[in-house]
Amino acid sequence: MNINLSVIKGDGIGPEVTEEAIKVLDKIGELYNHSFEYKYVLAGGIAIDEIGNCLPDETVNVCKSSDSVILGAVGGPKWDHLPGSERPEMALLGLRKALNLYANIRPALMFESLSDACPLKEEIVQGGLNLVVVRELTGGIYFGDKGRKKENNKETAYDVEQYWDYEVERIARVGFDLAMNRSKRLTSVDKANVLESSRMWRSIVNKIAKEYPEVELNHQYVDNAAMQLVRNPKQFDVILTSNIFGDILSDEASQVTGSIGMLPSSSLSNGNFGMYEPIHGSAPDIAGKDVANPMATILSCAMMLRTTFNLKNEARAIEDAVNKTLNEGYRTMDIAKPWEEVTGTKKIGDMIVQNIKP
Ligand code: IPM
Ligand code: MG
Repeated sequence: MNINLSVIKGDGIGPEVTEEAIKVLDKIGELYNHSFEYKYVLAGGIAIDEIGNCLPDETVNVCKSSDSVILGAVGGPKWDHLPGSERPEMALLGLRKALNLYANIRPALMFESLSDACPLKEEIVQGGLNLVVVRELTGGIYFGDKGRKKENNKETAYDVEQYWDYEVERIARVGFDLAMNRSKRLTSVDKANVLESSRMWRSIVNKIAKEYPEVELNHQYVDNAAMQLVRNPKQFDVILTSNIFGDILSDEASQVTGSIGMLPSSSLSNGNFGMYEPIHGSAPDIAGKDVANPMATILSCAMMLRTTFNLKNEARAIEDAVNKTLNEGYRTMDIAKPWEEVTGTKKIGDMIVQNIKP
């Protein structure tokens, strides 16, 4: 297979972790006879520095013309002084919108070999954790009308949470489809006791549910869901929710697994196109020191091979190699216990490459 990828290394540890992911993809190409071609494009802080714009048109165009996108991370304190609309994070929102990446899939999985990093009591997580947050990514308060105005010497600011019916319908279908491939349980999270947009969300989810009679659907208010995630996370399998609620709950879910440095994500459009990135951020404090954990980005590539290219064996080979490397005791700084030896970014990448077996 010939695969054309756009690669956005981004800021902070982004370049280091994407380099390791590329090493892994190249090895997969070699073993399984695929040819990966990479087009490197700029977005985020580095694009501000080099081009004066966090998301240059060229980046969007190259991404649109490729089969999928890999992204490291964007942002950092260097650009904190910029006004909201010019910050590196706007590149992410711009990419999501321009590429119509409306479905964000964020698995929260506890790695068995790292289970003692889980902050919850053992009896709560016994047997492991494996849930996935399906977050709507191109609507809601992130993209609604926003602004500031002054009236009578007082200032006000607003961000509007607005959803169109078709936006809810299509993300609901993504959630139900995923549930069908997993344990057929779906929890839709909203705030329908207060918000009109949530009431519409809930009624549309109920309507779509009729197309999936096998899926057991329940609804939770977001405050309750946040509580349930630490009280009894095993009740969840697929969580379907809006942009802002998904932002918050996916961070919580990933931390609950104890594996935040390990978790991949995909942002999907219609068809098979997607952008794949680690859940973690750009971690500027550890950038350039060869200590970042590249596994989340490497696992994002596995997710890409499976989801976009239907290369299941290749995806599995990467996941197995990551597990093997963990089982052999290799740990980056973020997942090492105080008495464990720490391995650097590049070495971990090398070990994973070595452990890939067809
Ligand atoms: C995420 C991040 C982004 C978001 C930020 C960086 C804009 O928190 O991907 O979850 O809020 O969506
Ligand atoms: Mg977030």
